Amino acid sequence: MDYRVLGLVLLSLLAYTNAEQVKFVDCGSVEGKVTEVDIQPCSQQPCQLHKGQSYSVNVTFTSGVESKTSAAVVHGVVAGIPVPFPIPQSDGCKSGIQCPIEPQKTYSYVNQLPVKNEYPAIKLVVEWELRDDSSKDLFCIKFPVQIVN
Ligand SMILES: *[C@@H]1O[C@H](CO)[C@@H](O)[C@H](O)[C@H]1NC(C)=O
Repeated sequence: MDYRVLGLVLLSLLAYTNAEQVKFVDCGSVEGKVTEVDIQPCSQQPCQLHKGQSYSVNVTFTSGVESKTSAAVVHGVVAGIPVPFPIPQSDGCKSGIQCPIEPQKTYSYVNQLPVKNEYPAIKLVVEWELRDDSSKDLFCIKFPVQIVN
């Protein structure tokens, strides 16, 4: 590889880390489309979540439907089993989304993910859903994290 190519690769890696964009998997966003997931702070992937700290999660999505309400449901998937992951604010309309949600509009859902001291220091997958009026997913995303001491 020539040095210019190498430089470009390093530069784009750096840009990628600064943006804190997280690699995610869509787990069935039937009523919307997710374009971007950001977690802050997260300098490496999977994101290292320190116990006792809180992380900001920003999900940018375009809704396909109209909805008066939106409710977040978060799980931590440990060894294939989803365990409820409590968040302080489950009302999506109080998490950066202006309700009612309109079809074809893009929203940034921004919420906090507090990592409690009593959580085990393990790798797990976070599954984050936002449900509409009819309990269908406006988005459902999954991303890996690592809880550290
Ligand atoms: C969330 O991410 C979107 C897309 O990158 C950005 O436009 C928006 O400003 C972010 N919101 C916050 C509160 O960080």
